[in-house]
Amino acid sequence: MENHTKDSTMKVSSLNCIDLANDDLHHSVASLKQACLDCGFFYVINHGINEEFMDDVFEQSKKFFALPLEEKMKVLRNEKHRGYTPVLDEILDPKNQVNGDHKEGYYIGIEVPKDDPHWDRPFYGPNPWPDADVLPGWRETMEKYHQEALRVSKAIARLLALALDLDVEYFDRTEMLGKPIATMRLLRYQGISDPSKGIYACGAHSDFGMMTLLATDGVMGLQICKDKNATPQKWEYVPPIKGAFIVNLGDMLERWSNGFFKSTLHRVLGNGQERYSIPFFLEPNHDCLVECLPTCKSESELPKYPPIKCSTYLAQRYKDTHAELSIYHKET
Ligand code: OGA
Ligand code: NI
Repeated sequence: MENHTKDSTMKVSSLNCIDLANDDLHHSVASLKQACLDCGFFYVINHGINEEFMDDVFEQSKKFFALPLEEKMKVLRNEKHRGYTPVLDEILDPKNQVNGDHKEGYYIGIEVPKDDPHWDRPFYGPNPWPDADVLPGWRETMEKYHQEALRVSKAIARLLALALDLDVEYFDRTEMLGKPIATMRLLRYQGISDPSKGIYACGAHSDFGMMTLLATDGVMGLQICKDKNATPQKWEYVPPIKGAFIVNLGDMLERWSNGFFKSTLHRVLGNGQERYSIPFFLEPNHDCLVECLPTCKSESELPKYPPIKCSTYLAQRYKDTHAELSIYHKET
C-alpha cells in the first residue's frame, strides 16, 4: 500500500482552461490538444450552464442523499446501471483498497421508455426516479441537467475532433454521438481517506468512456497522477474553479486515438468534509466500433488495439468495478 507523504499528495495541478465562448478557434484547439497529449484533464468555462441552475442541481442532489437509507434503497441501481449505489458498492482500485469507495451515488442515463424500439439496449431504458411526493421537481431538474451536460459534451467533442485533425462533425454522426450513451452520476463523499490504510473516497482509476464532464462543489478532493508508472506515484490536487467543469478523457478515447490522447489515473481523497460532485460520462452509440481513428495511424504507427464495440467494452468495465446486485437481495 502507498506511503502517504505530504510531498506526494499536496501538489496542486495547473490545467489548461478551454473557453467555449472564445472566437479564436485555433487557440482553443491548440490548447485542448496540448492538454489531451499531456494528461487528458482540462477545465471548461463559458459553457452556457448558469450558476443558479448548477446550485439547484446540487441542492436537489443533497436532498436525495439526505433521505433515509430505506427510501434510497427503493431506487437501488438496476442491471442497466441506473439508480442508487450505496457506500462501498463500487471498488475502482482493488489492489490498493481494503474495501469499496466511501461514496454514495445515483446513476441517471438517457430516458428511453419501454415502447421505444431501442429501450432494451444495455445502457438504454427508463430511469428509476425517487417518488415525486418525496422530492418534488427532482426529476425535472436532473433531466434538464442531463440535457445541458450532453450539449456541452458534444460541443467539446467537436473541438476534440479538430484537435485530432478530423472533420469538426466527425463525432456527431448517428453511429457515434448522434445516439450516444450518456450517464450522469450524483455523488456524495463522506469520511476521511487514509491511503496508508487503503481507505479511499474513490479509488485510483481512469474513466471508462470517451470523456467525462465533472461538476464539483468547492471542496478539494480530486487528485490526478500524470505518470502511473512512476515510483512512487506523484499525486496532484485538481482544485475546483467556480463555474468551470473539470473535463477528462476516458480509456475509450485513448484507445480510439491509438494512445495519442491520454486518459489519466485519478482518485478522490476525503478530508472529513462532505463533498458532492456530478460526473457526466459520455460514450458513443452502443454499436459504435471503437477502432483506431483514421488520423491516428500511419505506416510507422500501426493500430495498437483491436476494434471493440462500445457497449461490449463498457459492460465489461462496469462489471469489473461494481458489486454483484445479488448481495443486496440476500436477506429477504
Ligand atoms: C468518477 C470520478 C471524481 C469526483 O466518478 O469517475 O472520478 O470528483 N469522480 O467525484
Ligand atoms: Ni473518474
